[in-house]
Amino acid sequence: MSERETWATRAGFILAAVGSAVGLGNIWQFPFKTAQFGGATFLVVYLVAAFGIGLPAILAEFVIGRKSNLNTIGAFEKLGYRNWRFVGVLGLVTGFWILSYYSVVGGWVLRYVGGSLTGAYFGDSAAYFSSIAAGPDAIALHAVFMALVVGIVAFGIEDGIEKATKFMVPSILVILVALAAWAFTLPGSGPGYGYFLSPDLSQLRLTVATTDGFPFVSFGGPLAEIIPFAVSQAFFSLSLGMGAMITYASYIDGDESLFGDGATIVVFNSLIGILAGLVVIPLLFAQGVEPGSGGAGALFISVAGAFASIPFGRVVGVVFFGVVLVAALSSAISLLEVVVAYAIDNYAVSRPQVAVGLGAVIFLLGLPSAWDTAWLTWFDNLAYQLFLPLSVLGILVFVGWVFGRPALEELLRGTSFGHGVGATWLWTVRSVVFLAVVVTLVLGLVTLFGGQDPAIVPPL
Ligand code: PFF
Repeated sequence: MSERETWATRAGFILAAVGSAVGLGNIWQFPFKTAQFGGATFLVVYLVAAFGIGLPAILAEFVIGRKSNLNTIGAFEKLGYRNWRFVGVLGLVTGFWILSYYSVVGGWVLRYVGGSLTGAYFGDSAAYFSSIAAGPDAIALHAVFMALVVGIVAFGIEDGIEKATKFMVPSILVILVALAAWAFTLPGSGPGYGYFLSPDLSQLRLTVATTDGFPFVSFGGPLAEIIPFAVSQAFFSLSLGMGAMITYASYIDGDESLFGDGATIVVFNSLIGILAGLVVIPLLFAQGVEPGSGGAGALFISVAGAFASIPFGRVVGVVFFGVVLVAALSSAISLLEVVVAYAIDNYAVSRPQVAVGLGAVIFLLGLPSAWDTAWLTWFDNLAYQLFLPLSVLGILVFVGWVFGRPALEELLRGTSFGHGVGATWLWTVRSVVFLAVVVTLVLGLVTLFGGQDPAIVPPL
């Protein structure tokens, strides 16, 4: 077997991982979930979830990947735990599943880059969206988006993913800063900042009350509802539970500090989500649009609609949707790489062949979502509420209880941290993080089987 590929540089790995993390989750979902759940209060809870739960979890995936230098399924076997391969399978299936409909949304974004140039959606953005979101048009653009993803992955780790993300991630950052500065100059955008950035902490208060003489503690406000959303959002946004971070870390060749890399990724991922909010929310306020409408409608209808009525709307539209496209692509390649890595590690097949073949299968799986947005919503809800938390839970249980001490040593390799830091991490994985994921999973299942799911796409 030929030698396994590696990243050329440490920065290359970090940028690729940030590229995976920063995607539609940051620009499409994050600002609108924040708006939907009352603005800055959600932001605070999200940040706590990202650093307190997402960071320990991302480190768990890094440890599995770097220690094994194998794909997300083979890794468990190589570490000596053949019976735990099902956790890898779950991650791989989750990634496959998510990419199928993510690519449909990527297709919409592609269409909006062109539509901004020609002003196609400027007349009635809602009507335009319903005309392109499902059916033959959506299928065609889903195919183009997948073809782009396949094109990058076919070139490999160093020449494909690393080269592409080295250019993509800095461009996303620079352009979002420029757009945020521009949004600041729009008349009427002012109140958007207060809404997005000043939390109503009374919503986060713990209250102690008594019923029949028994004291019980409850959250003031909707915190119980916000927490599971914030935790799922942090997982999705950090590309956890999809095999992506295990796979990317498996190409690390060296003793760098995983802790430093993980922290850098969480910081950048949060920063870009906040920047996206600083573009989108003030823009909506400037247009007098209620930002809490949520979901696809907000980006493809309200934000797009705003471009129709501002100076240089076409240019801004092309730049904005261009950034969204780059972010979506740099995420999608990480999910295709999960399955490609598995195939290459196990079979005598060439990377380009596998990338094309698996890209085609993912395209087929995405057809229902491209045909009818009700399917897309169903795919997304199942991923968010079942696959993702279950897959992350599997990883945490494995790393926390089964793998244990060697995981701790792997985390500390290449750092100057003492044993205590590693032990704290392991303890966190076993307790707080574990508990948060169990609660998220249970609440997700309750919503999935008993409640009303929020539709991410408005009825067309
Ligand atoms: N972290 C990605 C995001 O926030 O968009 C999650 C992701 C979804 C990665 C879909 C890759 C992907 F294909």
